[in-house]
Amino acid sequence: MQSKLIKVAQDARRKAYAPYSKFYVGAALETSNGKIYPGCNVENASYSLTICAERTALFSAFAAGEKDFTHLVVATENGVSPCGACRQVIWELCGEIPITLVNETGVCTETSSSELLPQAFGQQDLGS
Ligand code: THU
Repeated sequence: MQSKLIKVAQDARRKAYAPYSKFYVGAALETSNGKIYPGCNVENASYSLTICAERTALFSAFAAGEKDFTHLVVATENGVSPCGACRQVIWELCGEIPITLVNETGVCTETSSSELLPQAFGQQDLGS
C-alpha cells in the first residue's frame, strides 16, 4: 500500500501549479477505508493565496466526507518536510499518523504528525 501511496504523491506532484516558486509538491492521503486522495500545491499571482499540496489533499478528502486518515505521503524534489501551517492542519484533521517524505526516487524520511509538531496547540487547549 505504501508504494501505491508514494506513486500517487509523485504523480500529483506533476500536476502542481507553481509558476512562481517552481517548487512542485505532491501529496497522497490514505483513509481507513483504503481510499487515496491526491493533492498538489496551487499558487496564485497574489502569492499569499497559494495553497500547499498537503492541505489540498486534506481538504479534498474532508469535502468528500472522509474523517479517518491513516497515512500521508509528501513528494518534493528533495524530500523536505511540510511547512508549519500544514503541520498544524495535519494535526487538527488527522491526529497522530505516519508521514512519509519522498523525492522522485523514493523514501527520504519516515516521520509522524507529532514528531513534526511536538506540543501541538489543539482543540483541548481551548477549554470548555
Ligand atoms: N509548499 C507545499 O505545497 N507544501 C509545503 O509543505 C511547503 C511549501 C508549496 C507552497 C508553494 O507553492 C511552494 O511550495 C514554495 O513554497
